[in-house]
Amino acid sequence: MCGIVGYIGKRDVAPLLLEGLQRLEYRGYDSAGVVITGPKATGLKMVKAKGRVRDLEAKVPARFKGTTGIAHTRWATHGAPSDENAHPHMSADNKVAVVHNGIIDNADDLRAKLTADGVEFASETDTEVLVHLVARSQADTLEEKVREALRLIEGTYGIAVLHADFSDRIVVARNGSPVVLGIGEKEMFVASDVAALVSHTRQVVTLDDGEMATIKADDFRTYTTSGTRTTANPTTVEWEAESYDMGGHDTYMHKEISEQPDAVDRVLRGRIDDRFSTVHLGGLNLDAREARTIRRIKILGCGTSYHAGLIGAGLIEELARIPADAEPASEFRYRNPVVDPDTLYIAVSQSGETYDVLAAVQELKRKGARVLGVVNVVGSAIARETDGGVYVHAGPEVCVVSTKCFTNTVTAFALLALHLGRIRDLSVADGKRIIEGLRRLPGQIQEILKQEDEIKKLAKRYADAKSMMFIGRVRGYPVALEASLKLKEISYIHAEAYPASELKHGPLALIEPSLPTVAIIPDDDLLEKNRAALEEIKARSGQILAVAHQEQEKADHTIVVPKNETELDSILMGIPLQIFAYHTALALGRDIDKPRNLAKSVTVE
Ligand code: F6R
Repeated sequence: MCGIVGYIGKRDVAPLLLEGLQRLEYRGYDSAGVVITGPKATGLKMVKAKGRVRDLEAKVPARFKGTTGIAHTRWATHGAPSDENAHPHMSADNKVAVVHNGIIDNADDLRAKLTADGVEFASETDTEVLVHLVARSQADTLEEKVREALRLIEGTYGIAVLHADFSDRIVVARNGSPVVLGIGEKEMFVASDVAALVSHTRQVVTLDDGEMATIKADDFRTYTTSGTRTTANPTTVEWEAESYDMGGHDTYMHKEISEQPDAVDRVLRGRIDDRFSTVHLGGLNLDAREARTIRRIKILGCGTSYHAGLIGAGLIEELARIPADAEPASEFRYRNPVVDPDTLYIAVSQSGETYDVLAAVQELKRKGARVLGVVNVVGSAIARETDGGVYVHAGPEVCVVSTKCFTNTVTAFALLALHLGRIRDLSVADGKRIIEGLRRLPGQIQEILKQEDEIKKLAKRYADAKSMMFIGRVRGYPVALEASLKLKEISYIHAEAYPASELKHGPLALIEPSLPTVAIIPDDDLLEKNRAALEEIKARSGQILAVAHQEQEKADHTIVVPKNETELDSILMGIPLQIFAYHTALALGRDIDKPRNLAKSVTVE
């Protein structure tokens, strides 16, 4: 959510920053801006534009030269998208520029005080107070000026600060919003996300909350906000620069849907132990004795990751027979939850940066709970804050809406459930059966992908619906929830998901010919009950699109999904509905990778 990129070195900075912004655009795309300076430049030069990075690019003059700069792509929180509200924000004397991710909670108070002191504000943003505070500081160094300003700030931030009088450096700070330094050859980068760095360097340092850094062309140092030096541990980013490219697809979403066979193969790779019909999860930090003492598992995540957690809870109950449930992290953290010492908590997050999830983890840890993570981004805040966990190895996901990360997360949960099950009461035979099922997944996903043309026809057929109902029962219900979220996010068609068993308790009143129902019908012991729900819908002249393992007589159309082991079927059943949502949105001419009002990685509350 919002992207920051900065550079200091010898190269022409503007094209570098614009390229970095393009790579970060999935984090926010309502306005963008860039400010630069250099050894020969006098003062700071800035360009900002409402709209996409390409709109900014069009405004950048040919002679916009410098070797140091910071840039930002915005997802609005305080103040509507506009040129004025776009970052960077600059002081009235054009000496200080700041880009900021996060929210300054006491911005209104600070703004009132500064205004009373005669400061004139140029924007409606919370960030601008920070600029004025830095500019008014009487401290001798830029580091101390920023530190003084941060002492007055309450809230979350990832910031980069440029000062015309200290043009040999960029000062950055982190509290709740990611900041990563990229180490190059006599050049340094900074970004909110490695996506902006990997085409230049894969050596990175991730700042911790409460940490600051000064970057110069040939040097950097990290320290706390109170000035104590910290030890920076550079790591190598495992993802290649090419994995951020569109790779011949028209959209990232399409690319990421098609990558799922390989992605699932990766989450399984090296983890299966045929000898004991179980899996090795090296990062779990949970030995068999401890695993046996777990009385309950609580999974926390937001949006799609919460839905993956619901499927995960079902898998854990089925395979490990440990009571498990999932809850939106955003709700959990605000309801003063009872934290039970015998409960294992699992935080799920693709980005590893979602603020609500991170805050829930921090609250749990404060109360002494054991928290594991199921995370895609290695070294992300949630991965570092948890006591251990499982990386889902989906590779970078650039489209704002999640597809391959969802599938890989659910598969990672199947691995965890199998691992816990085999420590507890799951038999060798069942362990073997599940392993064989897991191994079949990549091939079966490939079979589903081959049905794209037929699914596209169906999507076109249903694309003029004003609203759609998604139903499923037990294993199918979280799939219905996720499929309905996917459809509404990218097509803007209203969609509701209900347990099929709840239809007659209310939602059946909505059924009429113009409200199609998508029914998830796995071939399990609830098949007949699901078919009865189809009868009820048909009796009210509702249209039905079924996702099932065989043609459904009562449905108008069926997407047939290969059958796996019953416990694993929900991993497959969501995939055709990702394709369905994709083609519905395409038929409606939507901006699929950048749906309105949304951005990836929600690092604010
Ligand atoms: C929807 C989607 C979001 C995210 C949610 C949590 O397609 O992607 O609902 O799942 O914002 O994000 P992560 O998983 O990064 O914590």
